[in-house]
Amino acid sequence: MSEEESERETKGLGRYERFRGDHPIVVEGLVNRFGDQTIHEDLSLTVNRGEILGVVGGSGTGKSVLMRSIIGLQTPNAGQIEVFGRSITDAEPDENLGLRNRWGVLFQGGALFSTLTVGENVEVPLKQFYPDIQPQLLHEIARYKVVMSGLPEEAASKYPSELSGGMKKRAGLARALALDPELLFLDEPTAGLDPIGAAKFDRLTRELQQTLGLTVFLITHDLDTLYEICDRVAVLADRQVIAVGTIPELLETDHPWIDEYFNGPRGRAARESKTRAETMDNPPGDGA
Ligand SMILES: Nc1ncnc2c1ncn2[C@@H]1O[C@H](COP(=O)(O)OP(=O)(O)O)[C@@H](O)[C@H]1O
Ligand SMILES: [Mg+2]
Repeated sequence: MSEEESERETKGLGRYERFRGDHPIVVEGLVNRFGDQTIHEDLSLTVNRGEILGVVGGSGTGKSVLMRSIIGLQTPNAGQIEVFGRSITDAEPDENLGLRNRWGVLFQGGALFSTLTVGENVEVPLKQFYPDIQPQLLHEIARYKVVMSGLPEEAASKYPSELSGGMKKRAGLARALALDPELLFLDEPTAGLDPIGAAKFDRLTRELQQTLGLTVFLITHDLDTLYEICDRVAVLADRQVIAVGTIPELLETDHPWIDEYFNGPRGRAARESKTRAETMDNPPGDGA
C-alpha cells in the first residue's frame, strides 16, 4: 500500500472509494410517493460490479419505478442514489448526460420507435451522443449491435411491426447496447415470450454479461431466469428491498412472500428443472 493510500485508508476514504468502485449502484433511504400512495419507504440496495442482479416483487411493488429512479427519470421524494459513484439524486438532469452513455436500458414493453427501422432505432442513441458521427460509421455500428443481439443482419432494415416478440426484445437490446454500456437495465425482458424464446434470451444475456463484463439489473417475473442466470436476487415487498442474496440464501429468510414465491408450484418446477439440467451436465458417477 502506498503512503497516499494508507493515509486515505486511515481517514476511511480509501475504503469508501473502493466500496463505490465495486458497487456501480448504491441506493440508500429511497422514498417514492405518488399522491398519497407510498411506493418506496426507506429502500436501500447495493449492486455488485459484474453481477446479474435479479429484481423480483409482486406486480405494482415499484420495480420499474426503482429502475427509473436509478437512471434519473423519476425524481424521488427522499434518499440517495449513486451510480458509478456519482449522485443521481443531487444532479441537475443535464449532469446525468455524462453518465448516460455508461448504461443501456431495455424498457418494459420494448419501446422501439415504430416508424424507424431496427437499425435506425439503434442509431438514435448513437446520434444523440455523437452528433458528428459519419453516416457510414453510424450504420456499421448499428448493424454490429443488431448482430451482437442475436438478430440476422437483414433485421436491421425491418420495421418493429415486421418482427416477432422475441426479435423485438433483441432489437431493444441492440439499442440498449448502442453506446457500449457497462451497466445494463432490463425490465421484464422475457415477459410475453414463449419458454424457448425466453431461455434463448436468458442465454444471450448471460453471454453478453460475460463477454462484455456487464453489470445487469434485471427485473423479472421469470423463475427460470432467476435460477438460470442471476447471481443474486433482490426482493421488493412492503415498500422496501426485504432481502437480497443467492436463492439458497433467500430461502433461509422465512419471509412469507419469498417462501410462497420460491416454494409455490412454479418455484418448485423451476428449481427441479434447474437440478435436472445440472444432473444431465454432470451425471452421477461421472469422473469417479
Ligand atoms: N408516474 C406515475 N404516476 C403515478 N403513479 C405511478 C407512476 N408510475 C408508477 N406509478 C404507480 O406506482 C406503483 C409501482 O409501479 P411500477 O414500478 O410500475 O410497478 P412494478 O413493480 O410492477 O414495475 C404502481 O401502483 C403504479 O401505478
Ligand atoms: Mg414494471
